[in-house]
Amino acid sequence: MGRLKDKVAIVTGGGAGIGRATAMRCAEEGAKLVVTDRDGEAAEATVASLPEGSEAIALWHDVADEADWTAVMDRTLERFGRLDVLVNNAGIQLTCGLEETSLADWRKVFAVNAEGPFIGTRLAVERMKETGGGAIVNVCSTYALIADPLNAAYCASKAAARHFTKAAALYCAEKGYGIRVNAVHPGVVMTPMLEREIADVAAERGLPDTKPVEEEWGKICPLGIGQPEDVAAGIVYLASDDAKYVTGADLEIDGGHIIR
Ligand SMILES: NC(=O)c1ccc[n+]([C@@H]2O[C@H](COP(=O)([O-])OP(=O)(O)OC[C@H]3O[C@@H](n4cnc5c(N)ncnc54)[C@H](O)[C@@H]3O)[C@@H](O)[C@H]2O)c1
Repeated sequence: MGRLKDKVAIVTGGGAGIGRATAMRCAEEGAKLVVTDRDGEAAEATVASLPEGSEAIALWHDVADEADWTAVMDRTLERFGRLDVLVNNAGIQLTCGLEETSLADWRKVFAVNAEGPFIGTRLAVERMKETGGGAIVNVCSTYALIADPLNAAYCASKAAARHFTKAAALYCAEKGYGIRVNAVHPGVVMTPMLEREIADVAAERGLPDTKPVEEEWGKICPLGIGQPEDVAAGIVYLASDDAKYVTGADLEIDGGHIIR
């Protein structure tokens, strides 16, 4: 408790899944929070569920939209006066074969998963450097590290966000800004995103229920399917001063997914 005491944090995609669990954990650790989501009502619901006494606001925000980002930064500074932590969590998945992936699909996935973290990081750096530093955590994926035949755009967008993380970490270190930039790579985590995917596969196979697909997914990672809180714990570590000597790192929170 108290690892993020008085730090001001933005969590994107905070209306569900890993973002929601991260917002909850950040609040428990004492952060003042800006929870954003393109589903603004979901962001509001997350804020409403935070522990009593939490200082938090919810904002409608499409991470693919630069003007939205500027508004989020302005509102954060207006409300809390500074920015210490940015968690670029919002992401979308597109599971389909290479031959079925259109250029529009590819661009849509990149706009959210790769351009979103870029815009957010650039704007956050501008603000954090004025107040002595901060921490940025980009939620990528084990699919940034290993490939999947049915996720070409997703894998490539996450690999782009991962490598961007390292370039940004180096840039900030060389400038002496005191800003650390790290990547977290979840494996298979039970969130609405995964539930949708499991339901789609079950429907495609004409199965009456999703259980067999869930069991199959459970075998992907040696430790089975993870929970959003497992990822939130790693994000909070990287956002906190406990990680003050960690930058440009890959933290796999994947139940051993990539060691096979
Ligand atoms: N769940 C997994 O197994 C898994 C595995 C690896 C990586 N990830 C990554 O973790 C992150 C969170 O995933 P999740 O499983 O919690 O997803 P989710 O779909 O359950 O929740 C994502 C949240 O982000 C919001 N969002 C989507 N697009 C947005 C946009 N353009 N702007 C703002 N908000 C947006 C959604 O409204 C939703 O509230 C994503 O970046 C995802 O790629 C998830």
